[in-house]
Amino acid sequence: MAVAWRCAQRGMRVVVRDPAPGSGASGVAAGMLAPVAEAYFGERELTGLLVASAARWPGFAAELTAASGVDLGYRTEGTLVVGLTGDDLAEARRLWAYQQELGLAITPLRPGQLRDREPLLAPRVRGGAWAPGDHQVDPRRLVDALRVAAERAGVTIVPEPVRQLSDVDRQGPVVVAAGCATAGLTGLPVRPVKGQLLRLRTPDGAAPGFRHVIRGYVDGQQVYLVPRADGEVVVGATVEERADRQVTADAVLRLLRAAVELVPGLAEYELVEAAAGLRPGTPDNAPALGPLPGRPEVVVAAGHHRHGIVLTPLTADLITDLISTGVPDPQLAAFRPDRFTTDRIVEGQPWS
Ligand code: GLY
Repeated sequence: MAVAWRCAQRGMRVVVRDPAPGSGASGVAAGMLAPVAEAYFGERELTGLLVASAARWPGFAAELTAASGVDLGYRTEGTLVVGLTGDDLAEARRLWAYQQELGLAITPLRPGQLRDREPLLAPRVRGGAWAPGDHQVDPRRLVDALRVAAERAGVTIVPEPVRQLSDVDRQGPVVVAAGCATAGLTGLPVRPVKGQLLRLRTPDGAAPGFRHVIRGYVDGQQVYLVPRADGEVVVGATVEERADRQVTADAVLRLLRAAVELVPGLAEYELVEAAAGLRPGTPDNAPALGPLPGRPEVVVAAGHHRHGIVLTPLTADLITDLISTGVPDPQLAAFRPDRFTTDRIVEGQPWS
């Protein structure tokens, strides 16, 4: 939808084919814009892309809010990364050290400083750090806003599925931005990675008593808490190499236990939703951005895995530039879909 909006702004005639825009991974995403806290070992190039896209978020959010009239729930208090036990803190520190080595902004805090920032954190929390540049947005509002802005810019939304590329590929350049369904449409190796998450709500509908996104290491398990001004708190998420969308008792139990260990007051909140979605993952967990091998008129923007929301502005800009000029931006070089090419890729057949 973001690509569609940007292309329409450049004067292109754009049709989006999607039976239910935003009903896939975007509808269950937590909306963390986290180039620092999600900078993992061995993903240096992906981290560079996250940082570049996060830098576009302030301008993108302002422009989209003005174009749509929708409040995106964009918040910039930053993220606290915390460890519950000594072991948890040691694990978190290893990653901070790597993130600092990359020059990313993450500042260790003494326990007193941590509690000054978030007094509701449990006394057991041993320590943490602050990532001031890791912000958040409400993905459901984002999709609503993009839809309004896209339609206002002239995009036509046709609520029908695309079952194969030949349904659309005679009508001009095609962008495949179909999440996990990209595998079936293109043959590229995009696999589903299941995530389960919960939505809690304050009992009185007021804003939660904490303002930062909190990412916790809790007895060896990772959890994140995303507070929204409207009283919602997202608690996520599992990472499972599975393709179903069932919510399991075990996941709900683990997520709630970890959340309440970090912020005990959450036990009083209403549990309003338990959901599961499928992240589109590639073999290197980085997106596929650019022409489909052997089909230059088909451009892929998929496989964003854990990072679809933070990568929205940059993906939209780079893909729109590619379509308008035919020249790929150098930032796309490491993310070309043909890095997965083997003779096993056949349109319409899943990777095996
Ligand atoms: N980026 C958060 C998640 O994928 O759960």
